[in-house]
Amino acid sequence: MNHLRVLSGIQPTGGLHLGNYLGAIRHWVAMQDTHECLYCIVDLHAITLSQSPDTLRRHTLEMAAALMACGIDPKRSMLFPQSAVFGHAELAWVLGCHTPLGWLNRMTQFKEKAGKQRDMAVLGLYSYPVLQAADILLYKATHVPVGEDQKQHLELARDIAGAFNRACGEEFFPLPEPLILGETTRVMSLRDGRAKMSKSDPSEYSRIHLDDDADTIALKIRKAKSDMIEGMSISEDRPEAANLLGIYAAITGRTLRQAQEECQAMNFSSFKALLTEALVAHLTPIREKLLAIREDTASLHAILNEGIERAQAIARPHLKEVYRLTGFYA
Ligand code: AMP
Ligand code: TRP
Repeated sequence: MNHLRVLSGIQPTGGLHLGNYLGAIRHWVAMQDTHECLYCIVDLHAITLSQSPDTLRRHTLEMAAALMACGIDPKRSMLFPQSAVFGHAELAWVLGCHTPLGWLNRMTQFKEKAGKQRDMAVLGLYSYPVLQAADILLYKATHVPVGEDQKQHLELARDIAGAFNRACGEEFFPLPEPLILGETTRVMSLRDGRAKMSKSDPSEYSRIHLDDDADTIALKIRKAKSDMIEGMSISEDRPEAANLLGIYAAITGRTLRQAQEECQAMNFSSFKALLTEALVAHLTPIREKLLAIREDTASLHAILNEGIERAQAIARPHLKEVYRLTGFYA
């Protein structure tokens, strides 16, 4: 029986938004009570789209602060930047040599992102999921909490683990289980209920950031797209109503059914007032913590350095073993 170990990652390409929080981070926080957890700020992944070095450095520290403000506790969990732990990129190389091109050609995220980049898309964008598999397997993680959009990458990570295990003739890597938790696994844009809430959306009104103040939250919810149908309900043809009800349910700890029952008689504007109140109540303490932690860069550096050391101690022997199984000189 393998030791239960959680690993997940997030790119330091801007602040956290409500989709990150509800789809992933709140589950990361909860898992600290039951599992050994590693949370990785994936800067190697971030550079698959062009980044200015100063911005990347700043975003890495800000992401650490944001994760801690949400409840990631660096005393219990390992919080670290990916590039600082040796082994992620090295293991990705080895795993890449066990990954048939056909598997990568199926990845929808690559097609989407490369499509936007046209002929400027880089090799790293293509091998992105191999690096993601390496992040997980470097620690022999057993569970990976992510939002819905990462499902395909997680299936690939399992396939790559299987391919390596077959090649070396032993069950070296556990097959990692994706954990796509809760009913609100995919938070949609506030401007378009059929598009994912995402940091790359050019409209600030499409998403709520965890450092938005109460007035900004109220304004964004007021401007959120609505429809002309009476009452609040969840159905295929009402993506905006379904999305806002999903957010309300997740943020208040209700089930979708409870949220729908509570709000079915409301019109959009009274529901939006209720939703704003719930969001402000939940997010204000997180915002306040975030603003305070972000200022204390000395503590942030100390926390990340400790995370790096603890993560490295787990990674090093695993990578050594992979090298031995591969036949490298050691
Ligand atoms: P990213 O911001 O793409 O690095 O994603 C970090 C984590 O947030 C991943 O686990 C994603 O699956 C999750 N995530 C990102 N956007 C959303 C969204 N709109 N709804 C739910 N989960 C999301
Ligand atoms: N690809 C993930 C995302 O965009 C981030 C990520 C990188 C990740 N490595 C990971 C998630 C390992 C889980 C496990 O959200």
